Amino acid sequence: TDRYAVFGNPIAHSKSPRIHALFAAQTGIALEYSALLSEPEEFAQDVMMFLISEGKGCNVTVPFKQEAWELADELSDYAARAQAVNTLVFREDGSMFGANTDGIGIVRDLQQNHGLVLQGKRILLLGAGGAVRGVLQPLLETQPASLFIANRTASKATELAADFATLGKVSGGGFEAINGQFDLIINGTAASLQGDLPPLPDGCLAVGGSTYDMMYAAKPTAFVEWGKAQGALLALDGLGMLVEQAAEAFFIWRGVRPDTAPVLAQLRAELA
Ligand code: ATR
Repeated sequence: TDRYAVFGNPIAHSKSPRIHALFAAQTGIALEYSALLSEPEEFAQDVMMFLISEGKGCNVTVPFKQEAWELADELSDYAARAQAVNTLVFREDGSMFGANTDGIGIVRDLQQNHGLVLQGKRILLLGAGGAVRGVLQPLLETQPASLFIANRTASKATELAADFATLGKVSGGGFEAINGQFDLIINGTAASLQGDLPPLPDGCLAVGGSTYDMMYAAKPTAFVEWGKAQGALLALDGLGMLVEQAAEAFFIWRGVRPDTAPVLAQLRAELA
């Protein structure tokens, strides 16, 4: 049986083993997928050990995505640009290929699963950390009319926007620089898990606009509740993105694309 794993810290509550077990059952591909805790200084060594013990590949989550980017011998376009890797492929020759499927995950969830068209839309992205960096290129490739990155620390947003400026109409600033109306507001800060909300001006969500929280929880997050209160057409959380990024990793490893809808429904039911 081929072996896979997800490395992170913390990792105990990761849903990835469950998701990949459901994909494996659905596709009839036998594989083993476990959650492995790495200590901060030991990530690279732990991945090497897993490779040597006949692992075929792994996922990487917080806080090791940038270290995984450094560790990979070759990178996908998205991973190179994001400077973050969430999927490693261990090749026959012992080298490692690094990909980033987070952005594909959110775009598929928005467009395929929920039927939202991003092309020509005004997008507001909250946060300027690793989570946001990882999704910027695929979001810009949908050709939104504009994408504004707003962050508590304004300089991080302007720097991030400058890094991706060749890929589309992207700019950045502090929360106080949020101006006008948006068709889609995406939360990429961790704040909403603590019940915290970025300071957003009332009325910044356009009529018919939607909201998306990259986080998720058993109960609606603070940002999902905010979206509902603003009259969002759809106020979504990030569980769909989680399943879609996993499906893309599964595809990279096995060449088979799982049907994500039943897996997402199952996960949602188990979350409650
Ligand atoms: P991640 O990899 O999860 O994105 P990160 O790189 O530490 O983690 O980035 C966390 C993001 O959440 C940042 O954009 C951070 O804002 P700062 O750059 O100003 O630190 C944002 N964030 C965290 N807590 C927040 C809060 N309480 N209110 C607003 N933004 C917050």
